[in-house]
Amino acid sequence: MIRLIRAEDHRTVSEAAAAWVSAEVRKKPESVICLAAGRTHLLMYSMLLDMSRASLVSFKSCTFFAMDEYLGLGHDSPHSLRHMLEQSFVLGTGVDSSRFRYLDSLASDPEAEAARYEREIMEAGGLDIAILGIGRNGHIGFNEPGSAFTSRTRVVDLTKETIEQNACQFGGTHKVPTRAFTMGVATLMQARKVLLVASGRDKAQALYNVLVSRPCIDVPASALRLHPDATIVADRESLYGLDSQVPAGASLV
Ligand code: GLP
Repeated sequence: MIRLIRAEDHRTVSEAAAAWVSAEVRKKPESVICLAAGRTHLLMYSMLLDMSRASLVSFKSCTFFAMDEYLGLGHDSPHSLRHMLEQSFVLGTGVDSSRFRYLDSLASDPEAEAARYEREIMEAGGLDIAILGIGRNGHIGFNEPGSAFTSRTRVVDLTKETIEQNACQFGGTHKVPTRAFTMGVATLMQARKVLLVASGRDKAQALYNVLVSRPCIDVPASALRLHPDATIVADRESLYGLDSQVPAGASLV
């Protein structure tokens, strides 16, 4: 079931998402949390750090897993998703670095690295919370359209659309890696709770497909429709065109 929380704009989306995450961590301080590294989440992470500094929430007993990573970038590369997470959230928490887990972008055997990560998640007790964003093409993590709902952490080829979506962070499409690691759709959907954060008109078509169409692998995020405890926090722009189909406060089964 999906619970939809509507917000006005990116700021209020971030506030609602940060409130949701902090409430869950207060309920279960030792939560195992999957972190998305999208531009959408930067303000939410900054708000969570403010809450942590104000002692409104503590992350010191949580364990965090980065959701995805480009292949072939060093972890200190300014373009790596690890670097983005470290700068926007990890370093500000003051939490012991052993509590943050990453995929090794430079692993000599990427398939073995993906399998190792999947095992590590299971050994941590599985994900309590998966914090997701959504790609313009409906991807979650780097699970591109066509990803099986049974997929696990693995190496994927990025679509042209995703490469274009993220090109501005690299200074051109030709500089974006064409392959990436991602937790699989099944890995993410096994999280006990899922939170998808969406903002901006460029996500409207993807969100429409998630909320109105039947779940199908062409829209990987539509797997949320099959999850028992999924929440989407979305702003007015990202819900463009959905007003008549999805009433305010709707829970979609
Ligand atoms: C990217 C990442 C996801 C992210 C999503 C949305 O390609 N793989 O982890 O959540 O797409 O990103 P953004 O918030 O920057 O639009």
